[in-house]
Amino acid sequence: MRKNGLVIAIDGTAGTGKSTVGKAVAQKLGYGFLSTGELYRALAYKVYEQHVAPSDGEAVLALAKRLKFTFVRQADAKLNLHVDGEYLGGKLHLEEVGNVASQVSTHKEARAVLTEQMRQAGKDGGIIMEGRDIGTVVFPDADVKIYMTASAQERAKRRVKQLEEAGEHPDYHKILALIEERDYRDSHRAASPLKPAEGAIIIDTSSLTQDEVIALVLEKISHYVA
Ligand code: DC
Repeated sequence: MRKNGLVIAIDGTAGTGKSTVGKAVAQKLGYGFLSTGELYRALAYKVYEQHVAPSDGEAVLALAKRLKFTFVRQADAKLNLHVDGEYLGGKLHLEEVGNVASQVSTHKEARAVLTEQMRQAGKDGGIIMEGRDIGTVVFPDADVKIYMTASAQERAKRRVKQLEEAGEHPDYHKILALIEERDYRDSHRAASPLKPAEGAIIIDTSSLTQDEVIALVLEKISHYVA
């Protein structure tokens, strides 16, 4: 085991509850929690801000190399990402930023730069990292690997509920189409496509509540922390 504990990888498609579950489990274990999509989102944000074309691999790579990432641990276990000293916060979670993130994340060389940052953040252990390629590429030697899935229909329903609770009037079919499009792009790209790591514990969350998933993950991990 590393100095501060285990490295726990949680991968899976968007909208399966990886972040909520990962953060809750990290709190229970006293670990840090890193949502690695935020690094891709931060790069996307800078790409957009600096008028770089998301399809221009060389320009995206040059920008990725120039950015300075730091992680600041919060009381709720979350590692907040700061880019060049600035916390970008909610801006990273705009729908548009997510879309550009999915595009910039197709560039292999830029991925390597962000992957190195993730490895630095996790090298001493005591961390849960959530993403798409944590168990396959970032930490192939992670102590525990979890792969979360749920049907696209169930994830679209959850997203609609979330947006309705925020006072919006989303169209279920549009949301479903966006989810399917993103799944396809994330799992068919040439560089580090989304797929379960070898030896990953696969959890289908379609018919489970969040609390049930948290309990299940804690139960699986208990075999390693004992
Ligand atoms: O999990 P998220 O929605 O915040 O991720 C945003 C994008 O970043 C997603 O479309 C795929 C990419 N991503 C990735 O390629 N590898 C990761 N480890 C995390 C995210």
